[in-house]
Amino acid sequence: MEELLNQYKTVTQDNATIWFKVGKTTDFPANGGACIKHQNKQIAVYNFSLTSSWYACQNLCPHKMEMVLSRGMIGDREGIPKVACPLHKKTFSLEDGSNLNGEDYKIAVYPVKIEDEMVYIGFAE
Ligand code: FES
Repeated sequence: MEELLNQYKTVTQDNATIWFKVGKTTDFPANGGACIKHQNKQIAVYNFSLTSSWYACQNLCPHKMEMVLSRGMIGDREGIPKVACPLHKKTFSLEDGSNLNGEDYKIAVYPVKIEDEMVYIGFAE
């Protein structure tokens, strides 16, 4: 379990060393999420089309170690983009991965960039 969680480490725009192309912008549902795979990682990618913003995080919910976050409800809390796990509604910031319920769970987040209608996720490897 711990090993599964340890695969995921937050990457920032500044420390991304590779940008992995995950598809066209139109491959991702408007105001929703989708899951992509990169090496052994499942990454949830979110298209906040209302604000033209994109976010990515581990697909693994740290609460019960379920690969479900791409199917979570997205929105914002006081301007912080967030995802709520579809199983028990634990809610995470998509900016820094912190748990917005004040619990001791955290998720890894990844930078996203759009170039020529293609979506790229940044990894540090
Ligand atoms: S598995 Fe995600 S909140 Fe419980």
